[in-house]
Amino acid sequence: MHAGSIGYGAMGFSWGYGNRAGTDPDAVIGRALELGCTLIDTADVYGPHENERLVGRAIARRREEVVLATKCGLVVDDPATFSVRVDGRPEHILAACDDSLRRLGVEAIDLYYLHRADPAVAIEESVGALAQLVAAGKVRAIGLSEVDVPLLERASAVHRIAAVQSELSLWTRDALPEVLPWCVAHDVAFIPFSPLGRGFLTGRVTSPQDLPQDDYRHRWPRFQAEAMAANAAIVARTAAVAARHGVTPGQVALAWVLAQGEQVIPIPGTKRIPFLEENAAAADIALTADDVRELDALPPSVGDRY
Ligand SMILES: NC(=O)c1ccc[n+]([C@@H]2O[C@H](COP(=O)([O-])OP(=O)(O)OC[C@H]3O[C@@H](n4cnc5c(N)ncnc54)[C@H](OP(=O)(O)O)[C@@H]3O)[C@@H](O)[C@H]2O)c1
Repeated sequence: MHAGSIGYGAMGFSWGYGNRAGTDPDAVIGRALELGCTLIDTADVYGPHENERLVGRAIARRREEVVLATKCGLVVDDPATFSVRVDGRPEHILAACDDSLRRLGVEAIDLYYLHRADPAVAIEESVGALAQLVAAGKVRAIGLSEVDVPLLERASAVHRIAAVQSELSLWTRDALPEVLPWCVAHDVAFIPFSPLGRGFLTGRVTSPQDLPQDDYRHRWPRFQAEAMAANAAIVARTAAVAARHGVTPGQVALAWVLAQGEQVIPIPGTKRIPFLEENAAAADIALTADDVRELDALPPSVGDRY
């Protein structure tokens, strides 16, 4: 995979985050490509379906510049409550891929992830279906999202896994002890999602009142008032590091993620060009060893992520 060091997550245009009025996916995704954020991330579940359509439209004339990533294996039960269920059955995966290709308007998906492993289906069966899609030329590389090392070992015995996408940020470090080292050892790209802590680590969201009403963060434990107040210490200490470099806390959050290894490609999500430009510029920040040590020592976050 040849992608820039920072990718781009398009989810917010159709899922999870509110405040969409006046935003322009074509312009934002176009600017992402200009800035070298060529790994563009979507999923069939975002919308549902709408996000793939808008990504497809935005890249239509620039397909060859994009490393196009989408995901299957989650099905929306109720968009109003963001309730989803897993479906990792081979027949679902094979049909979902055809639907995604049609919505994206492309002949092949560069990186196709299983969004979540289905506990009711052996991972070998799900990955077997993904391997069939590679053999059929519909998918170029396979990824898995939010998996542990035993699942990665089993999956890799069926087909090469090119990328693992899991949450990684200053306040979510679960992947650091095992999954990331496994990726390094096996030359697998590691793609951190929500690297800005769903916006919290930028310091621009400090209380539930800052969130639009239809925003899914209202549902997450870490976005309850008490947890946000407790986790403000993480942002304050990140801001102190940022001040030394004359950059923003969000940029330091991204620089710390990038400092975790060469094959780490975060995919911050935004609907706004100024945020996109700020995020892309984080690739140029050189954190010192002392900065990284200070950030490594931040207190653990308060509140579960889901
Ligand atoms: N595999 C999975 O299960 C999974 C789960 C979640 C997400 N993802 C993928 O990962 C991508 C990124 O994750 P995410 O969007 O959840 O979280 P994120 O990148 O950590 O944060 C996105 C939030 O931060 C805000 N933001 C972005 N840049 C900012 C800046 N410079 N200053 C202030 N605020 C800023 C955005 O606001 P605006 O929207 O207003 O611009 C949005 O509310 C998604 O787009 C999606 O493709 C995957």
